[in-house]
Amino acid sequence: MSIAVLRTFIQQRKLEHKAMLARQAKAGPKVPDESVSEMEPPADSSQHNGMSSDGCKLLEEMSQDEQCSISDVQTRNLRRKDLELKPARVLEALSASGLRALRYAREVEGIGQVVALDNDKVYVESCRRNIRFNGSVACSKLESHLADARVYMLTHPKEFDVVDLDPYGSPSVFLDSAVQSVVDGGILMCTATDLAVLCGGNGEVCYSKYGSYPLRGKYCHEMALRILLACIESHANRYKRYIVPVLSVHMDFYVRVFVRIYR
Ligand SMILES: C[S@@+](CC[C@H](N)C(=O)[O-])C[C@H]1O[C@@H](n2cnc3c(N)ncnc32)[C@H](O)[C@@H]1O
Repeated sequence: MSIAVLRTFIQQRKLEHKAMLARQAKAGPKVPDESVSEMEPPADSSQHNGMSSDGCKLLEEMSQDEQCSISDVQTRNLRRKDLELKPARVLEALSASGLRALRYAREVEGIGQVVALDNDKVYVESCRRNIRFNGSVACSKLESHLADARVYMLTHPKEFDVVDLDPYGSPSVFLDSAVQSVVDGGILMCTATDLAVLCGGNGEVCYSKYGSYPLRGKYCHEMALRILLACIESHANRYKRYIVPVLSVHMDFYVRVFVRIYR
């Protein structure tokens, strides 16, 4: 299911990017000229900035007009690079052996880097071993770190197009940092396995973790989803962001939601 959602998200992201480019092209001057795209800036960046001794000499010898036209081209090249859609970056914040992160890296086309975190050394070692077992694609796309996911997400704000939270029990302690780590328009995937709490088994615990008081009833699984969504929304709102639910499911012993986060 997560793989299917991720594939759909990546296609949707491409469509949205195309639409954005088309809007900019309609608006006019901001879209760079196609002919400029083939002109890459010099490989040596110091020379590119006119900082090397040769470069300084060159710049001195240039007329004002030439300098203007070169900086024009460079600016347009830079703008063009800004407009390119970069491959989606994924954070599997609670990865254990990295099974899910590996599947994302290997099975989803258009995926960029996948970062797998765990705060347990044994899991990180097994994740690294699994990356090696899975060959060159896995090795080039996946990296595994020993880290507390909350600290990592807080120190990497708006860096990931996709953040996946798959904790033991409640995700509540990870939500505040997770909503900050997703880029605008990115997607947060979140599981909660503490259904007893979310379905009304202990109202006070649910209130303290999720900020909602659950009712007991036949509809308790739908209510569990709504409580989790409301909790994610309230964390997003603290940072002037909001969520758009994409898919919400109750399955076996857990609920899982997929939400896009916008500013
Ligand atoms: C349910 S398992 C993840 C399973 C994994 N997503 C999979 O599909 O195989 C939860 C993992 O979160 C890790 N974990 C718990 N608290 C963490 C934290 N604060 N930072 C990073 N990892 C944490 C645990 O060590 C455990 O490996």
